[in-house]
Amino acid sequence: MDPIISLQSVEKAYPLKVGSYYVLRNIDLDIEAGEFVSIMGPSGAGKSTLLNILGMYDGKFAGAYYLAGNAIHQMKPKDRMALQRETIGFVFQRFHLLEDLTVYENLEIPLTYRNVPRREREGIVADMLDRFNVVGKKELFPNQLSGGQQQLVSIARAIIAEPKLILADEPTGNLHSEQGQEIMELFKRLNDEGTTIIQVTHSEELAKYGDRVIRLKDGWMV
Ligand SMILES: Nc1ncnc2c1ncn2[C@@H]1O[C@H](COP(=O)(O)OP(=O)(O)O)[C@@H](O)[C@H]1O
Ligand SMILES: [Mg+2]
Repeated sequence: MDPIISLQSVEKAYPLKVGSYYVLRNIDLDIEAGEFVSIMGPSGAGKSTLLNILGMYDGKFAGAYYLAGNAIHQMKPKDRMALQRETIGFVFQRFHLLEDLTVYENLEIPLTYRNVPRREREGIVADMLDRFNVVGKKELFPNQLSGGQQQLVSIARAIIAEPKLILADEPTGNLHSEQGQEIMELFKRLNDEGTTIIQVTHSEELAKYGDRVIRLKDGWMV
């Protein structure tokens, strides 16, 4: 079977006054459907940049990116966004919850994208609030939550619509270690059920929940 993700000579650079500053260099990477991969590397290595490209939040890169058979590097932004909404659950390093919406409304959005009817949405959101221990927070806005609570809501938002692919950027960076392990157990279960998972982590211990570690240094895969 073809890999769900294939990167071929992917490079990302920002222009400098003279020349370019390379954040990703010559990345060749295949990930099979059903894998659980951890990306590790020092701060500034390009981990978030790589994850944002994989999540189609950043379309400005050189090289080729195939996702589930789609040539992302040739796709129109509108089509990319449609594919993103139907395929990917993304946990941002800085949460990116919608500040004008309540916790409840934030969790509802991915279901709305999938045209889940309102009645069904209510049940699914209620279940998620319960699983993540934030039932009492549902009418609050993101800035009324602690960093850890925002991170939990952002994980709940990423998984709520049962995406084929979960991309998570340091998803447990703001949780205490026990909560972090619970999230890894959750990811492991979703992975056992067939979800492909790619996470960025600084923890060798949490990386062990995955099948494989990819290491980045100064934009290169090492
Ligand atoms: N908009 C930008 N302009 C210039 N450099 C950037 C920009 N965004 C990120 N970078 C640089 O890209 C490098 C990689 O960043 P990032 O992918 O966030 O690293 P990591 O997630 O591994 O810590 C860093 O050196 C960062 O300063
Ligand atoms: Mg990062």
